[in-house]
Amino acid sequence: MTISFKRVTVVVACLTTGVGIAAPSATQSSRGAAPPAFAAIQGGRGSSEPAGVARLRAFDQAAVVRGRAVFGGRCASCHSSSGRGGAALPGPDLIRSVLVLQDLNGKRISEYLKVVGPTKRHPTFSDLTDAQVSDLATLLHREITYAAERSNYKVLNILTGDARAGEAYFHGAGGCHTCHSATGDLRGIGARLDPPVIQGLIVSGGSGGRGGPESSTRAATATITLPSGQTVTGVLVRLTDFDITIRDASGAPRSWLRNGDSPKIHVSDPLQGHIDLLPKYTDTDIHNLTAYLVSLKES
Ligand code: HEC
Ligand code: HEC
Repeated sequence: MTISFKRVTVVVACLTTGVGIAAPSATQSSRGAAPPAFAAIQGGRGSSEPAGVARLRAFDQAAVVRGRAVFGGRCASCHSSSGRGGAALPGPDLIRSVLVLQDLNGKRISEYLKVVGPTKRHPTFSDLTDAQVSDLATLLHREITYAAERSNYKVLNILTGDARAGEAYFHGAGGCHTCHSATGDLRGIGARLDPPVIQGLIVSGGSGGRGGPESSTRAATATITLPSGQTVTGVLVRLTDFDITIRDASGAPRSWLRNGDSPKIHVSDPLQGHIDLLPKYTDTDIHNLTAYLVSLKES
């Protein structure tokens, strides 16, 4: 009983903040009022985790990633890749859309996209499957929640982040350094992006929209277990039924012929790795990491 009551409170608070975001003039006042209200609503893990982080975590990350792919291919041309529209684009901002806000599990979005009405100005997407619409809805609801949490994050960042602890976590337990470098891909990130955006990227695992196949942080890696038991890991260059080529740590290409199951190969997608790490972070880790990345201002 208590739990479901809390859930209702969370939704109301989220909508209230969402409205504050939708009206820019109200953002300042809602930001001032937000911390006590949010502090009273704890996240689902019973800890001191801020409700916002718990709420973002509650979205099915795999559905968000799938939704982004559909959105990028079918919707972004008119609504922009962030869903926020733009002056030069025909589609409105979907993150402030009342229709999307009132949607439940994709039902209204599905009606809107699939049903053809005499006065309807929207293109009809009758070919989208229910699963695709559901993924799109998950993505849009998550973006709305994220927008609603931004002001909350800003306050929390400044108050609770410890940059040195974040640095230690980055190079230690967090394992961030295995894919990122403060002097490489994340250099100057604190000057490039707002703290709430940085925090969102840590929480969400990033959109995966940047870099290219050549960017080493985005490339898939493969671990090969040779018959001797020795393992070799590197950036996957080529994988066919007959052979595999990787670039090893020194940058040198190495190839093996494949014969059925030998050698054993495990391929991992770095963005999936990011998503898998998500449940490991605590609220403190996230705030410390944010403070650390925000401090990387030198470009
Ligand atoms: C060819 C351009 C175009 C494409 C592609 C497009 N939209 Fe739209 N969308 C629009 C326009 C224009 C409107 C406003 C229509 C109106 O005012 O009647 C709109 C409105 C909407 C609305 C209603 C917003 C509101 O608050 O009324 C939703 C939801 C929506 N689009 C979702 C999507 C999704 C999801 C996709 C991808 C599957 C998509 N759109 C693809 C142009 C587009
Ligand atoms: C298994 C590899 C991997 C690990 C581990 C990892 N990340 Fe990432 N991270 C990625 C990939 C891939 C991207 C997407 C990069 C892109 O799109 O250019 C990304 C994106 C990001 C971004 C957005 C960068 C930008 O410029 O947009 C930030 C910030 C980030 N990660 C922080 C972290 C932090 C903090 C940790 C540790 C808690 C971490 N990552 C652990 C692979 C990883």
